[in-house]
Amino acid sequence: MTLKTAARQVRENAHAPYSGFKVGAAIRTPAGNIYAGCNVENVAYPEGTCAEAGAIAAMCAAGEYEIAEAYVVADSPAPVPPCGGCRQKLAEFAAPGTPVTMATTGGKSETVTVADLLPGAFSLAHMDKP
Ligand code: THU
Repeated sequence: MTLKTAARQVRENAHAPYSGFKVGAAIRTPAGNIYAGCNVENVAYPEGTCAEAGAIAAMCAAGEYEIAEAYVVADSPAPVPPCGGCRQKLAEFAAPGTPVTMATTGGKSETVTVADLLPGAFSLAHMDKP
């Protein structure tokens, strides 16, 4: 299965009754395994979770902690960019050069890197004591 297929399939399972905006995300690890997630909204709106967070949670639950490639898809006019929080979540498990493809259900896509999405990301090194 490709990341594109996994993300498009899982998007169908999104729980998005409030925004009506279903998102699917899929990540591949260096071992070649694919983990997918969809957005899961909540009536208490801030409690909702993004598709990327779901995919990352599935990866960790399976005992893997490294992202080699990510793919995000939504039914939007232009490729949907991960939100700010998800950029930080991706950066936790991906190298700066890791490719992230943003896509629309209509077939448009754009591939950037994690560093493109979050330049100067906060990291463990910033907590080093001088
Ligand atoms: N959303 C995602 O799941 N991922 C993104 O990259 C952008 C936004 C979700 C959150 C919310 O359920 C809906 O899209 C509208 O913001």
